[in-house]
Amino acid sequence: MAYRIAIIVGSLREGSLNRKMARAICKLRDDNLDCSMVEIGDLPLYNQDADATPSEQVVRFRQQVAPVDGVLFCTPEYNRGVPGVLKNAIDIGSRPYGQSVWDKKPAAIVSVSPGALGGFGANHQLRQACVFLNMPVMQQPEAYFGHVTDDSFQQNGELADGSLKDLVTKVAHAFHDWVDMIHRSRQALAEDAAHAAQQKEHA
Ligand SMILES: Cc1cc2nc3c(=O)[nH]c(=O)nc-3n(C[C@H](O)[C@H](O)[C@H](O)COP(=O)(O)O)c2cc1C
Repeated sequence: MAYRIAIIVGSLREGSLNRKMARAICKLRDDNLDCSMVEIGDLPLYNQDADATPSEQVVRFRQQVAPVDGVLFCTPEYNRGVPGVLKNAIDIGSRPYGQSVWDKKPAAIVSVSPGALGGFGANHQLRQACVFLNMPVMQQPEAYFGHVTDDSFQQNGELADGSLKDLVTKVAHAFHDWVDMIHRSRQALAEDAAHAAQQKEHA
């Protein structure tokens, strides 16, 4: 079964390496991951006063994220942190209070940089937000992809053969398994609860 995955890229740049990486990951698992890019560049700056009267962009964003089975974040690091556009999108999805679209959605965080540290700081800052948002985030393999350039990708968007592609392939498989495990365990728990309720009724 293919899981519906929202891809959220923390860069608005047309030639974004993170966007390329997101596409490459989806291509590696297009049999099992039904990925759709959820755009964040048109979202207004979050303002709590607008919770009751959201703009059409906010409504569109929330409607695209709400039904998915999992979320894949691919983000650059800006000044050792999460880019403002991505944090803004996360804040927008988290409100109004009690109606967060992120709640319980399994996620993976990938950070991509031409630099050596692979966006480690942004990756972990985003993890911190996901803890509060009640999103179970895949732990391993960690995905800080450093030294990535346009040359890391082929013309068709796939990664060039090599150690980066090997690691990204592991991440793509692990992400599918992570989403699968969480959904199956929730289903099993729901079935157990229904079974227990049935038994109680007949007792
Ligand atoms: C405002 C700004 C801040 C940046 N800060 C960092 C940083 O802290 N760490 C890092 O590895 N790269 C940093 N970079 C370089 C980005 O990793 C690089 O531009 C990368 O290509 C951005 O991702 P993208 O290709 O998906 O747009 C920064 C770039 C910009 C524009």
